[in-house]
Amino acid sequence: MIEFRSVRKEYPGGTVAVADVSLVVPSHRTVVLVGSSGSGKTTLLRMVNRMVEPTGGSVLIDDVDVRDEDPVALRRRIGYVMQSSGLLPHVTVIDNIATVPVLAGAKRPAARERARALMDTVGLDGALAKRYPSQLSGGQQQRVGVARALAADPNILLMDEPFGAVDPIVRRELQAELLRLQAELGKTTVFVTHDIDEAFLLGDEVVILAKGGRIAQQGTPNEILENPADDFVRDFVGLAGGPRALSLRETPNGTAVVDATGRVQGMLGA
Ligand SMILES: Nc1ncnc2c1ncn2[C@@H]1O[C@H](COP(=O)(O)OP(=O)(O)O)[C@@H](O)[C@H]1O
Ligand SMILES: [Mg+2]
Repeated sequence: MIEFRSVRKEYPGGTVAVADVSLVVPSHRTVVLVGSSGSGKTTLLRMVNRMVEPTGGSVLIDDVDVRDEDPVALRRRIGYVMQSSGLLPHVTVIDNIATVPVLAGAKRPAARERARALMDTVGLDGALAKRYPSQLSGGQQQRVGVARALAADPNILLMDEPFGAVDPIVRRELQAELLRLQAELGKTTVFVTHDIDEAFLLGDEVVILAKGGRIAQQGTPNEILENPADDFVRDFVGLAGGPRALSLRETPNGTAVVDATGRVQGMLGA
């Protein structure tokens, strides 16, 4: 379990990136932080592995304040996937992944064996093992990033817009793959995105952030859609005249569900 207790981050210069956030990420669940650019998502995420130190409040993992842990040891036991894959450019795919177990003390052959198994886990063809990151597609690079984040077998996975830079079709593939992985591995996951559809697809719980790191609403996707907290949320999730503002229209073939542009999205009871 990860717990944010009244955390605040004011950067030097005076920008308040996170005002006062309290939030619990239950073990083995995925919580998605969603908000537009600059709403403090990355800042919040990085508080967990101490890449950002809060200027107020605290972050606890299983009731232990992360400030009481050595930052290097902490980062080693938490998987972190960045938007840019963050891979080492002059190191092969297999060794990019194997580096993590090697740093944790494994012998190189054992580490490579683990890396091979992880390539399989994230759906990467073993034939890509000897390639360099620049010789992979964007989607493949992100898979390597996920494999590397899993290499230390962390309980916690932090993912910062990991699928932001790939095209929509590959993005949907990666999302489906993450759902499968999550069902299998059950990591405690904090996932950051600016895409509300991605948030609703992947999150057991979704936290909608407004500017200045304020929580506009948190809840399951159903709770948020059924009972949006205010106009900001209604607008953000597309209920205010957006794609989710559906209405009904009678047709000779039954009742059609129509979106805000008048396009038929489906038939009731079909
Ligand atoms: N190292 C930093 N120094 C000063 N301001 C920063 C720093 N990092 C982020 N910020 C500011 O904090 C706010 C939140 O940033 P960030 O957490 O990166 O948001 P997001 O990930 O939601 O786009 C922004 O206004 C950003 O400019
Ligand atoms: Mg960010």
